Amino acid sequence: MEMIYMDTFDRLLSMPSRIRVRFTLAQLRALEAVVRNAGFTRAAEELHLSQPTISIQVKELADALGTPLVESSGRKVVPTAAGEEVLSCARRIFDEWAALEMRLAELKGLKRGRLRLAAVTTAEYFLPGLLGPFTAKHAGIEVELAVENRDRVVERLEAGRDDLYVMMMPPERADLALAPFLANPLVPVAARRHALAGKRRVPLEAFAAEPLLMRERGSGTRMAAEAFFAERGVSPTARMELGSNEAIKHAVAAGLGVAVLSRHTLPRDPSRDGLAVLDVRGFPLKRTWYFVYPAARRLPVVARAFLEFALSEAAGR
Ligand code: PGA
Repeated sequence: MEMIYMDTFDRLLSMPSRIRVRFTLAQLRALEAVVRNAGFTRAAEELHLSQPTISIQVKELADALGTPLVESSGRKVVPTAAGEEVLSCARRIFDEWAALEMRLAELKGLKRGRLRLAAVTTAEYFLPGLLGPFTAKHAGIEVELAVENRDRVVERLEAGRDDLYVMMMPPERADLALAPFLANPLVPVAARRHALAGKRRVPLEAFAAEPLLMRERGSGTRMAAEAFFAERGVSPTARMELGSNEAIKHAVAAGLGVAVLSRHTLPRDPSRDGLAVLDVRGFPLKRTWYFVYPAARRLPVVARAFLEFALSEAAGR
């Protein structure tokens, strides 16, 4: 009886120190990356480490646990049954760790940090509505918001200049994380007193026959409208190119032509700006706003907090 008690007691006493020396977070991250990428080379690239370092980390973890964690299957590296167990535990540890980082940052008065955002011009109509309450909640945060057209925002994304990007037409790249968060209907607009205003089910050809006011090249709104017209085989007559949504709205209201704009650029009652949303067949174009960032990049705490805030706000709308 005494023996059993002593044995249990011994084991309990020695456990914490044994766990401490048995593994490191870096080893768990290496294992996770190797399995997700099905190989050592890509995992090493992703973690910015050398391939031998990754192999050693995974091997040391396997040695410490006394069982192989990965094996090869053809040219791929796959987890063993034990590896699966370790991974599922590792993922829970990572989640806990991320939550802990967040709580610690909160304790420091969330986030005397900086939120670096780049958004397409059309997003300027709703982004302040998200940034306002977020910064009110976290007064220590400084926001840097760059507002440019779609192509410029994509350039910033390629150069990694910001933490988070807001756009409707993300580049087609497999290495980007996309978080859709809000509908972005694109609507045909004309002056309030235009002949097509108030007409029902206007044929697309009739709309395309009107002089069209276009955004500048590089605008996502323009890309989406051009793609739609091309798909339908209609070629509208572009009358003028203007560099902003506001310039287009004023020109349309002044009767210079019609345009395709995001519904977000218009007030609830467009007639307040002298405009009317037309009922044209094929419209509205149903597009979506996305938060975009490189999937391999761990978002800084402030950016992650803003992303979560924006997604939950959008879900509640
Ligand atoms: P933009 O925005 O027309 O201002 O470029 C639309 C988008 O690309 O999301």
